[in-house]
Amino acid sequence: MLESSRVGFIFSVILLLALSIPCSCSRLKSVARTKSAVFLSPKIVLEPGSVSNKLYYGIDFPRGHIALKDFIAEVVDEAGNPIPLYETYLHHWVVERYYGSKHNDSDFILVANSGLCQTDVLRQYYGLGSETRRTATHVPDPFGIEVGNAAEIPSGYEEKWLLNVHAIDTRGAEDTLGCTECRCDLYNVTKDESGQPLKPDYIGGLSCCYDETRCRVREGFQGANRTLYLSYTVTWVDWSDFIVPVKIYILDVTDTWKALNDSNVKSTEHQCKIEYDVKESCTPTGTSNSTCIDSQRTSLSLPSGGYMVYGVAHQHTGGIGSTLYRKDGRVLCSSLPIYGTGNEAGNEAGYIVGMSTCYPHPGSVKIIGGETLILESNYNSTRTHTGVMGLFYILVADQVPPL
Ligand SMILES: *[C@@H]1O[C@H](CO)[C@@H](O)[C@H](O)[C@H]1NC(C)=O
Ligand SMILES: *[C@@H]1O[C@H](CO)[C@@H](O)[C@H](O)[C@H]1NC(C)=O
Ligand SMILES: *[C@@H]1O[C@H](CO)[C@@H](O)[C@H](O)[C@H]1NC(C)=O
Ligand SMILES: *[C@@H]1O[C@H](CO)[C@@H](O)[C@H](O)[C@H]1NC(C)=O
Ligand SMILES: *[C@@H]1O[C@H](CO)[C@@H](O)[C@H](O)[C@H]1NC(C)=O
Ligand SMILES: *[C@@H]1O[C@H](CO)[C@@H](O)[C@H](O)[C@H]1NC(C)=O
Repeated sequence: MLESSRVGFIFSVILLLALSIPCSCSRLKSVARTKSAVFLSPKIVLEPGSVSNKLYYGIDFPRGHIALKDFIAEVVDEAGNPIPLYETYLHHWVVERYYGSKHNDSDFILVANSGLCQTDVLRQYYGLGSETRRTATHVPDPFGIEVGNAAEIPSGYEEKWLLNVHAIDTRGAEDTLGCTECRCDLYNVTKDESGQPLKPDYIGGLSCCYDETRCRVREGFQGANRTLYLSYTVTWVDWSDFIVPVKIYILDVTDTWKALNDSNVKSTEHQCKIEYDVKESCTPTGTSNSTCIDSQRTSLSLPSGGYMVYGVAHQHTGGIGSTLYRKDGRVLCSSLPIYGTGNEAGNEAGYIVGMSTCYPHPGSVKIIGGETLILESNYNSTRTHTGVMGLFYILVADQVPPL
């Protein structure tokens, strides 16, 4: 009895497959096996106040011609326990793709995303910060980020991946927010990582919390050194013609690019500054409608058009949302921060623990090459914030599959 029902089950599976093969591609596609693997970064050793901002070349990553479908991450200790942001603030992590020479470790070619910033700035495939645990990053079917295509890899090279993790140990910090905002006075830093003196008006940001710097800790605070890792889970499928590739663009609200309205003059170069400061500013108090919002805007355009498949903003503490819209005001995607309300990892009170995302119905949001897009990033300016960011990460497909 048992045997015959099992045979019956196997038979019906074969029948289902047989029926699906000749009929439609979407049926076949759903049979494509999704694979997933969990990896650990190299060790990150931290003590109270310390900063680790290192580059890890040649990290573990799936091999072969594949379509990346998802990349999720979190900071864990040696036992695999999640570490909350108020102990180790995950300022950011980024994952970049490159071709490394098979014979010479120092010879490599960065394989950048599709733009838009200047060379070597924000050219990652993936990257988030404190919002990592609760931000959706999956690429919907039938789309995927194509990597590992042997036909594109120069001979003598192999595709590799680079991870940068910027973590700040804020245990015992005298001013936790100040440490996470990299305020130069708290780090006692007056020169940048390369030894250049900082400009007097530079009061906080990445130039003050580089690798091995130290943020001020309360007098007498004791905390053990600890070894942490970025645990990352990659999900992918083997490449097939049924997958529609997407391009990755990262837009930065600090980009000073200008489209010049003259066919004889080229547009200016992109110049992304990555970070900016929010000054304390409120409309006069006393009025019934006083607001404290810092709103930054920039106009940009994509070199080629396509369909938006996914969108998400990146902001720091104080962020109240970011929107990408068309010149006529129609919204392409609005991404809002989720602030934690508790104590546990993934819900730390006062921290941005997630960003809302956009997954437009495939084909519904078309961006035309050269079309003016406006990126707006809003922060609460009740108080000053240093080194904040206003990025927008979008995935764009050249085409959408026929419905
Ligand atoms: C390795 O590559 C680097 C960077 O391209 C180059 O400067 C160096 O000369 C190369 N070393 C050898 C042994 O070829
Ligand atoms: C800050 O840096 C200066 C010079 O680099 C040094 O003399 C001073 O002791 C430092 N202060 C603290 C609190 O570390
Ligand atoms: C932590 O590690 C540093 C070196 O990275 C060492 O100087 C220090 O003594 C250690 N502290 C403790 C409490 O083990
Ligand atoms: C660009 O110039 C053309 C003709 O000179 C004009 O019609 C158009 O409005 C201008 N566009 C912008 C954005 O200034
Ligand atoms: C307050 O300001 C906002 C935006 O500036 C405006 O939309 C709103 O109508 C104002 N409310 C009042 C009560 O004035
Ligand atoms: C800005 O922050 C202040 C202080 O935390 C808060 O009272 C206010 O509601 C916030 N405003 C917005 C627009 O989020």
